Amino acid sequence: MSAPISASASAAPAAFANENGRRQILVTSALPYANGQIHIGHMVEYIQTDIWVRTLRMHGHEVYYVGADDTHGTPVMLRAEKEGITPKALIERVWKEHKRDFDSFGISFDNYYSTDAEENRVLCDSIYTALQQAGLIEARDIEQAYDPVKEMFLPDRFIKGQCPKCGAKDQYGDNCEVCGSTYQPTELVNPYSVVSGATPIRKTSTHYFFKLSDPRCEDFLRGWVSGLAQPEATNKMREWLGDKGEAKLADWDISRDAPYFGFEIPGAPGKYFYVWVDAPVGYYASFQNLAGRIGVNFDEWVKPGAKAEQYHFIGKDILYFHTLFWPAMLEFSGHRTPTNVFAHGFLTVDGAKMSKSRGTFITAQSVIDTGINPEWLRYYFAAKLNSTMEDIDLNLEDFQARVNSDLVGKYVNIASRAAGFLIKRFDGRVQDSAMNHPLIGQLRAAIPQIAGFYEAREYGRALRTTMELADAVNAYVDTAKPWEQAKDPANAVALHETCSVSLEAFRLLSLALKPVLPKLIEAVEAFLGIAPLVWADANQPLSSAHAINAYKHLTTRVDPKQIEALLAANRESLQPGAEAAATTAAAAPAKSTKKAEAKQEEPGVISIDDFAKVDLRIAKIVDCQAVEGSDKLLQLTLDVGEEKTRNVFSGIKSAYQPQDLIGKLTVMVVNLAPRKMKFGLSEGMVLAASASDEKAEPGLYILEPHSGAKPGMRVK
Ligand code: 2FM
Ligand code: ZN
Repeated sequence: MSAPISASASAAPAAFANENGRRQILVTSALPYANGQIHIGHMVEYIQTDIWVRTLRMHGHEVYYVGADDTHGTPVMLRAEKEGITPKALIERVWKEHKRDFDSFGISFDNYYSTDAEENRVLCDSIYTALQQAGLIEARDIEQAYDPVKEMFLPDRFIKGQCPKCGAKDQYGDNCEVCGSTYQPTELVNPYSVVSGATPIRKTSTHYFFKLSDPRCEDFLRGWVSGLAQPEATNKMREWLGDKGEAKLADWDISRDAPYFGFEIPGAPGKYFYVWVDAPVGYYASFQNLAGRIGVNFDEWVKPGAKAEQYHFIGKDILYFHTLFWPAMLEFSGHRTPTNVFAHGFLTVDGAKMSKSRGTFITAQSVIDTGINPEWLRYYFAAKLNSTMEDIDLNLEDFQARVNSDLVGKYVNIASRAAGFLIKRFDGRVQDSAMNHPLIGQLRAAIPQIAGFYEAREYGRALRTTMELADAVNAYVDTAKPWEQAKDPANAVALHETCSVSLEAFRLLSLALKPVLPKLIEAVEAFLGIAPLVWADANQPLSSAHAINAYKHLTTRVDPKQIEALLAANRESLQPGAEAAATTAAAAPAKSTKKAEAKQEEPGVISIDDFAKVDLRIAKIVDCQAVEGSDKLLQLTLDVGEEKTRNVFSGIKSAYQPQDLIGKLTVMVVNLAPRKMKFGLSEGMVLAASASDEKAEPGLYILEPHSGAKPGMRVK
C-alpha cells in the first residue's frame, strides 16, 4: 500500500491567507547538537530566522517558530561517557545552556524542545511504519568498521590513521588536513579507533535503508524541486537527481547498531534510528508539543493539503538532508511537504575560518560575558545577509565602525537631538501638522518596501534603505538647526516642527529596524509611550494627544576594549571546554568551517600559539618491555620529572630491543590526552623520526637530546 500523495507536488505553493489576509506559517532553524556550545556561527542562522519570523509576526500572521536540541547519536553518547554522566544528564545541561544563549540573543522561539522527547519517538515510529508500509524500507547486511575493544561500530569520523598519500599521522577517514587529499576510510594506513585506540576490524550487521532510489521518490523530488526559492539549491538538487533514468539517488542507511543513544527502531531490537532521521522529525515534535499546549490543531498543519506554510532555515552543508531525505520522508508517510528551504552560507571572522588560536571561535556566552550587546551582532549580521548562500564575514573593525556609525551616529542620535527640546519646550508633545511633512511621507512610503526586503530575506537591502532614510533625516535636522532655532522664542513653531518631524521620523526608522533590534525598539516604544510597533503602524503617526517620556540613553558605542576582551576570552576558553565544542559541536557552520580550514590555511602551517600548546619534555626511559600480543609496540616507563612515572606504548618495536633503550633520554609529548589501548593506558607519546615512505625506506629513530638535558626540562 502506498502512502497518499500530498496535494501539491512542488515546494512553494501559493501562500494561502484567510479573509483577513492572515497566513499560517511554521518556521524552523537547524537543531544544534547537544554536545557543544552555541557560537556565533550558529547565531547567524538563528538571527536570520528570527528576523524573518518577527517580520511576519509584525504583519499579524499566525507564525510559530520552533527549535530543539539535536540530542541523539554517537558523539553525544561518547561525550557523556567522557564526562562520566548519562547522555540524559548531558543533554539536560546543554539544553539549559543553549536556551540561555538563544534568550540572550533575542531568538524568539515559540517552543525550544528536545529531539529526545516522547512526541518525537511516536512520530518517528509512525513515519517509519508508514514508509515500511509504502514498501520504501529495506533491510540489508553491510560490513563496517568495528572497534573490538569498545565493542561498537565506528562512524567514519571516529577512525583516524596515517594519510595514504603523504603519510601524515592522525588524519580522519575521509580527507587529509595536511596534504588535502581525499580517500576512503579503508585506505588509511595504521587505522585506529579514536574511541579506544584499537585497530578497527570489519564486521557485518543488518541495516535498514530508506529506498530513495525508488522511482516514486525520484519522481516526487523532481516535482518538488521546482518550487525551491534559491537557484543554487535547485541546481544542487538537479545535480543530485541527475537526468531522468540516470538513477543517481542512493538508498539511505537510516539505522545504527547498539550501543547508540537514540530511539530503538520498532520491530528491530538493538537497532536505532540514525540521528539524522529523528532530527528533522524533531521539528514536528517541537511543534506538536507547542500545539498541544496552545490549542492548535497539529494535524491540520502537517497533513496533506495543509493551508499552513512550512519553512526550514539551514546552513548550506545540510541541504542534502532537507531537500532530499526530509521531503521524501514526509511525502511517503502521509504528511505535507516543506513549502521552502532557505540555506545560508558560512561565517568567517576577519576573512578566515573561526580559529581557536586567534580567539575568533566566539561562543555566544563570551559575547554576553564581555558586555557586547548581542543586538549589535544582530545588526551587523543582518546588514551582511541576503537571500543567497554566500558566506558572510564578520570583520571586527568594520563591526565597530558600522555599529557606531549607523546605530549610534545615525539612528539613536536623531532621538537624542529631538527629545530634549520637545520635553523642555513643548510638554513632550508633537505638533500634529508636522506629521504631514514630505520627509515623513517619504519614510512612511518606504516602510512596505523595507518589510518586503525582510520577507525576501534581503536584510542588507532593508538596512541600507533604512540608513539612507536616516541620512535624509539627519540632513534635514542639520539644515533646520534646532539648536539655533531654540535661541530665539520667535522660532518656537519652527522648532516644534523640526523636533516633531525628527521624532516621527525616528519612530518610522524604529519600525524599520524592529525585526533586527527587538530589545532596543522595545525601549524606544517605552520612551515614545506607544504600543508595540507593527507594520500597519506606519500610518499611525505620533499625536499631540500623548506626551513622550523622558529620553533615556538607548545604546552605547562599541568599545574596542570589548573586542579585545572577546578575543582574549575565546583564546582562553579553549583549553578544555571550547576545544570540545569546536571538535564535536558540528553545528552547520562550524562543521563546514572546519572542512574549509584545510583549504583556507596553508597546509601544514601552524601559528606559534598552536605550537606552544604542545608540551614537550625531556623524558628518561627508566624501563622498557615488549608487549605481549603486539608485534609493533614497546611499553616504556618514563620519568618526566613528575612525582610518578608515565606509561607509554610506542610503535618502535621494529627498531629497538627493549634493553637497549633503558636509561636513555628522549623527548616526550606530555599533554596529549591519555589514550586507552588494548594493552592499557598510554599517557603520552615519545618522538621518533622516520622516512615519509616507511615502506621504501624503513627505519625508526627516537630523538635523543644532547648531554646535560634533564628529565622534565621543557623542549621549545
Ligand atoms: O548539522 C547539524 O548541526 C544538525 N544538528 C542539524 C540538524 S537539523 C534538523 F534536521 F534537525
Ligand atoms: Zn596527506
